[in-house]
Amino acid sequence: GSGRVTTLQIVNKNISLDGFSRSAVLAGGTFPGTPILLNKGDRISINVVDSLTDPTMLRSTSIHWHGVFQDGTSWADGTSFVTQCPIAANDSFLYDFTPTGQAGTFWYHSHLSTQYCDGLRGPLIIYDPNDPLKHFYDIDDASTIISLADWFHSPARGASIPYLYTTNTINGKGRFAGGPASPLSVITVVPGLRYRFRLISMSCEPNFVFSIDGHTMTVIEADGVSTQPLVVDSIQIYAGQRYSFVLTANQKISNYWIRSVPNFGDTSFTGGVNSAILRYLAAPNSDPTTKNTTSANPLVETNLHPLVPVAVPGLPHPGGADVVINLNIGVSVNPVVRYLLNNVSFYPPSAPALLQILSGTQLAQNLLPSGSYYSLPPNKVIEVSIPGGSDGGGPHPFHLHGHNFFVVKSAGSDKFNFKDPVIRDVINTGFPGDNATFRFVTDNAGPWFLHCHIDIHLEVGLAVVFAEDVQTVSKEVVPNAWKNLCPRYNALNPNQL
Ligand code: C2O
Repeated sequence: GSGRVTTLQIVNKNISLDGFSRSAVLAGGTFPGTPILLNKGDRISINVVDSLTDPTMLRSTSIHWHGVFQDGTSWADGTSFVTQCPIAANDSFLYDFTPTGQAGTFWYHSHLSTQYCDGLRGPLIIYDPNDPLKHFYDIDDASTIISLADWFHSPARGASIPYLYTTNTINGKGRFAGGPASPLSVITVVPGLRYRFRLISMSCEPNFVFSIDGHTMTVIEADGVSTQPLVVDSIQIYAGQRYSFVLTANQKISNYWIRSVPNFGDTSFTGGVNSAILRYLAAPNSDPTTKNTTSANPLVETNLHPLVPVAVPGLPHPGGADVVINLNIGVSVNPVVRYLLNNVSFYPPSAPALLQILSGTQLAQNLLPSGSYYSLPPNKVIEVSIPGGSDGGGPHPFHLHGHNFFVVKSAGSDKFNFKDPVIRDVINTGFPGDNATFRFVTDNAGPWFLHCHIDIHLEVGLAVVFAEDVQTVSKEVVPNAWKNLCPRYNALNPNQL
């Protein structure tokens, strides 16, 4: 691939997505951030320049490339205090890696505290110029991205649960109850053409039920893995998840509501909240008058199967893996609300996990913060089971860095599938009494975060780190600029952080 270095400048700017102006943290000055568009096999060389100045929010940053495996480059995973120290204000850092073999729909976001809630989130698409699917589905246009994101009217810094969103946005536009009739996002289609739409949940908190009046959606990708085509009329999408679907513009020339119903907050469509517009070319420039046409055909995760069959590793029964990890979710409330996984709340250590390992710490029990690391040996099958909201909260969407995984048991289903389950990187663990189970093979050395992608939950400790193949990690070659991150960050006056 190409070796072109591009710059991604992180800035503070006042923006109004919904008629309410606030200061935000933005990648490239927009929300969502500048789309990063690549071809399969391309190398990514992005110089992230931290130009943040607003003292009401964090001024440091780090950027995670969500869904990219970082094979051999865990230092570029962007996870503050796990794989790096944050980039200090007025500093810059070059992320330089190749998403080997990966193609599909991804995204990027700040991985420092709850900074992405303040705006630092954008699409990352890896196109496959030789994609057989394009011909298979006769797709005319694959350029449409639909980013779903909650939006807040005040900075997230220091927020503790509950930190509730105000506005549900689609491609950076939205309306809130009682707010002005701000413009909505309009997606224009040409009658008769077939589109690949890429749906990304950049949510900090809610999940969304997404649908388009008068149209079905043929799902063909989940979290960067092509799936067998599945026709649905709605998609429930959790924080961090992505889908591609084929939409055929085969209805009469008109305007159609695009709906994105959050699981809490204002779930109505009064005054255009939770909406965007699908507009056929030559349709009038006006709001749709369509009715919700979803009925009996929602996306059910157990109906999703990889397009290319891949054998599930391990033995075909629950627990039939080399290492079995059961994680229980708990909550403690004194003196402040903290989430616990197996009785431990994750607190960011002062030295990132990767730095601790490179400095000679080999045993998970010696890594700090203690109790938050799980040692995973190389080339083994790992099975992880996470219950639904045993805390009474949830549903919690858990994301694993460094891998995707086989969802051998989805929330909402009693059945295990060891034959052809969906492969993805964010799993919904469901409601109390439910659970979800996934498997993967430890073929990628690194300290990998596993956490709830509700950012407010991560902030209060709903995370662990898988210390995978620490022997190999201890030999990872890191750039000098990476070694300079912690000294520079630590030299900052704390109120600049
Ligand atoms: Cu999309 Cu740990 O993050």
